[in-house]
Amino acid sequence: MSTKLPLIIVLIISSCLSHSVSEQFRFPIREATISKIKYAYKQKMLTTRELVEFYLPEIKEQNPYLNGVIEVNPNNVQIDADRADLERQSNSSASHLALHGIPVLLKGNMGTRGAMNTTGGSYALLGSVISRDARVATMSEWGYFRSSTAPHARSGRGGQGKNPYVHSADPCGSSSGSAISTPANLVTVSLGTETDGSILCPASFNSVVGIKPTVGIPSMDQIIPVSPRQDTVGPICRTVEDAVYVLDEIVDRYYVDPIFPFPSDSFKNHLKPDGLKGKRLGIVRHPFIDLVTAVNSIAVRTFEKHIKTLRQEGAIIIDGIEIENIDVIMKPLESGERVARLAEFKIAINAYLKDLVVSPVRSLADVIVFNINNPQLCRKDEYGQDIFLKSEQTTGIGPKEREALANLERLSKNGLEKLMKDNNLDAIVTAGSLISLVLAIGGFPGINVPAGYDEFGVPFGINFGGLKFSEPKLIEIAYAFEQATMIRKPPIAPLK
Ligand SMILES: *[C@@H]1O[C@H](CO)[C@@H](O)[C@H](O)[C@H]1NC(C)=O
Ligand SMILES: *[C@@H]1O[C@H](CO)[C@@H](O)[C@H](O)[C@H]1NC(C)=O
Repeated sequence: MSTKLPLIIVLIISSCLSHSVSEQFRFPIREATISKIKYAYKQKMLTTRELVEFYLPEIKEQNPYLNGVIEVNPNNVQIDADRADLERQSNSSASHLALHGIPVLLKGNMGTRGAMNTTGGSYALLGSVISRDARVATMSEWGYFRSSTAPHARSGRGGQGKNPYVHSADPCGSSSGSAISTPANLVTVSLGTETDGSILCPASFNSVVGIKPTVGIPSMDQIIPVSPRQDTVGPICRTVEDAVYVLDEIVDRYYVDPIFPFPSDSFKNHLKPDGLKGKRLGIVRHPFIDLVTAVNSIAVRTFEKHIKTLRQEGAIIIDGIEIENIDVIMKPLESGERVARLAEFKIAINAYLKDLVVSPVRSLADVIVFNINNPQLCRKDEYGQDIFLKSEQTTGIGPKEREALANLERLSKNGLEKLMKDNNLDAIVTAGSLISLVLAIGGFPGINVPAGYDEFGVPFGINFGGLKFSEPKLIEIAYAFEQATMIRKPPIAPLK
């Protein structure tokens, strides 16, 4: 879902890089995974400089069509790349970090004029979060790319993010830039954020793996908030393995939940090819399969085929089960989600903006005025700030909001939680990504894995969801499914 924040699109790309350079490399970079890149570094078959000099012309060539990347700082990227190569040569401790020398595309949840150039301010977003964490500091140094929140968010340049598989197809949002650029090989891996579907939906529509972790596991510090109760950040990658490597680096190992113990081992340990063996999977059809049927019968037939595969791989399938009150959960206006989020957004965004070192806007009210005064930064047809205005009218968490929050808790408890416990499930399996609404209100995790392509080549995904902190199980299931099916193929690019 869109955050409806003003966006300014800036694309700065060095013109001195020619495409032919990238074709000469000894190591095939297109589709390369983190582990293959790390191996190539070790074997001295690849340098980080070569890696970024592959991606930069790819961005230059494909981005005019895809609009997945809003900002690249090629000078910094190349300087940082050289530094990574030096660090590796000198065997420095930084070079032993898991994502050292791996380019990461970051979602830019908001860009306001002055903030664009302020790396320590709202511009840096995730970049500034991870730069505070020494373990993943190199991510931000490499990750000096930003992705747009198009298409649901307005973009100042009138840029519409395109689905790299079929340009006329919806890429979904709001982490669409990450989900567009990663399958198109404009970067190695990417990160998105999800409040309600913003990782799982674009991952499904763009044939990539998206992991929406349990809310609270990755730190949201310095990321522009929508609803701290639902916000989370997660990887969007071409393979489950890559996504899990990234997930391992963004989790807050010091996170403590009084009820749920945090998995102490690395998520990597759960990349098991036989991970489906003995797993109890609940197939939840209503209303997801009905919603998919309406638009895509191939996706439905493929889903049935996948259920057979899950069974063949050793899973125990529990079919014909339903989430209580699912029809209410699917309607944010009825469930209370909308009421809660409107108030939560104002509180969270005001706190965030107030805390910035430098910012032309200090409150939601300022942002609204900024938008009114700068209509040229918004496309006319997409210009509007009804959600901002409604949010601005709220006055904190009052009786109405408390009732909405209590209702959401009830819906989760009697819904997914009860279903999982009653049936002793390890995960639920759904077609497409609309399960995100159920996962959102409970803070639950989910993983999207590419599941197929329709007759026009438009991708669709399959989603595995579970209760809080069930990531290890979900990873075992998603990885084993991916390895058994190997469905994802790169888009034919660039389509002009
Ligand atoms: C590089 O450093 C690691 C640990 O700091 C050490 O175990 C390893 O032997 C070093 N490699 C070389 C080639 O010096
Ligand atoms: C941001 O950086 C660009 C390029 O360096 C510069 O042209 C522009 O004036 C800067 N914007 C602000 C608000 O400082």
